[in-house]
Amino acid sequence: MKTCFDFDIVQKYDRPGPRYTSYPTANLFREDIGAEDLARTLREEPRIGEPLSLYVHAPFCKSLCWYCGCNMKVSHNRKLMDAHFDLILDEIDMVRPLVHPSRKAAQVHLGGGTPNYLRPEQLVTVVERLRERFGFHDDAEISIEIDPRLLSSAHLDAIARAGFNRVSIGVQDFEPAVQKAIHRENSYKMVRRCVNDLRAAGIQSVNMDLIYGLPLQTLNSFNRTLDQVLSLDPERIALFNFAYLPALKPQMKLIKPEDLPTPRQKMELLTTAVDRLEESGMIFIGIDHFAHPKDPLSQAWRDQTLHRNFQGYTTHAGLEMLGFGMSAISMMDGIYVQNHSKITDWEKSVRQGHMPTARGYVLSQDDKLRRGIINRLMCRYTIDIPLIESEVGEDFDTAFPGVTGALTAMQADGLIQKEGAVWRATRPGRFLLRNIAMLFDHHLARPQGRQANFSRTV
Ligand SMILES: C[S@@+](CC[C@H](N)C(=O)[O-])C[C@H]1O[C@@H](n2cnc3c(N)ncnc32)[C@H](O)[C@@H]1O
Ligand code: SF4
Repeated sequence: MKTCFDFDIVQKYDRPGPRYTSYPTANLFREDIGAEDLARTLREEPRIGEPLSLYVHAPFCKSLCWYCGCNMKVSHNRKLMDAHFDLILDEIDMVRPLVHPSRKAAQVHLGGGTPNYLRPEQLVTVVERLRERFGFHDDAEISIEIDPRLLSSAHLDAIARAGFNRVSIGVQDFEPAVQKAIHRENSYKMVRRCVNDLRAAGIQSVNMDLIYGLPLQTLNSFNRTLDQVLSLDPERIALFNFAYLPALKPQMKLIKPEDLPTPRQKMELLTTAVDRLEESGMIFIGIDHFAHPKDPLSQAWRDQTLHRNFQGYTTHAGLEMLGFGMSAISMMDGIYVQNHSKITDWEKSVRQGHMPTARGYVLSQDDKLRRGIINRLMCRYTIDIPLIESEVGEDFDTAFPGVTGALTAMQADGLIQKEGAVWRATRPGRFLLRNIAMLFDHHLARPQGRQANFSRTV
């Protein structure tokens, strides 16, 4: 099916907005919530036997990509990086006793920064440490983000030995001119070799990250990139909207604003990519992910059991997540905490034997309810009025004044339609799910919510 848009309508909705990898969003975290609150929650709500998701943040990169919005640091000092790695192991040891011993990991993710800028042996060591301390479920998903420019044969061997079963490759775009404009050069040939090597090492699930909205991208150039990506047959593709925040990330000032595509061009890039990936047989899942029909994510999408967390879309229902390393976020049902984002603060805390949390947020009942509504919208494209009314215990219009009016206006714009008592995002509306979700975000109207540096929704 071809995606058709009325561009004037799309433009009407173009505004800064959260990506809703969490609700409430991280800008609301407060410095008076931290390690003690997390420890208390883990003690009072032990959730015996419930599986966990574990995230480890490896912050270092060899060079700086100008589009990068991640929490990372360029370093060439191996001694310093080795010392930092040892502190990550210390943090794992420090946190483990706080969690009920019955809880094992069903999902493990190594992100960054560039995890394959660690030494190969360190990849094995960190997975082993998590396995020893927490234990893994037999079918645990163990994944890693890799930069194809740094994947040595020793890393490949370590990835296989550590037991990783999913790998995500940062591709972004294959066009040489675009790669120069973002200071990130990984050729098609390099990525093809990397995919072949990973498959030979037994990795059955390969994801590729792409970004649309990068400088010098054109429809023609992006079509070429898509041809090349599809020729490599990845199981999953993440197609991110370029979050351009030069005020927050100084390296983005190195990108010439006049090289960036206009909002209309961005919309064309996105719809072309979605149409082409769907034509190729991939399933469009939520706002930025695609999966092969046989991939478990596609199955979960069909069964309506898909979930979304800080790491994106997942088949694991409501897993609580523990994050290790600089800037990592832990998300329990009732509390979120984030580690120090300044590397020296994080290191100092761990060295002194303290939990390196910097801020957090305790969720109210109202937050949990709205989180559920936003998650269902992101994963199923629906707003189910009877279900919501049964959760809130009152009439929808009383609980959410003004929302029906806003949804009706969106219906007139073709973004959503009402099927019985359920609102469902239309195909164009699926590209603006963030805008629909914003209707349920209680915090956006507050001064703290308004101040946040969100990327634009289009
Ligand atoms: C931590 S990086 C991936 C691993 C590795 N560092 C690499 O670059 O290959 C995670 C992904 O975030 C995405 N990303 C980074 N900065 C972004 C931005 N400003 N807007 C949208 N996506 C971004 C990229 O697609 C990148 O592959
Ligand atoms: S995109 Fe990846 S490799 Fe590039 S700077 Fe960011 S984290 Fe590092």
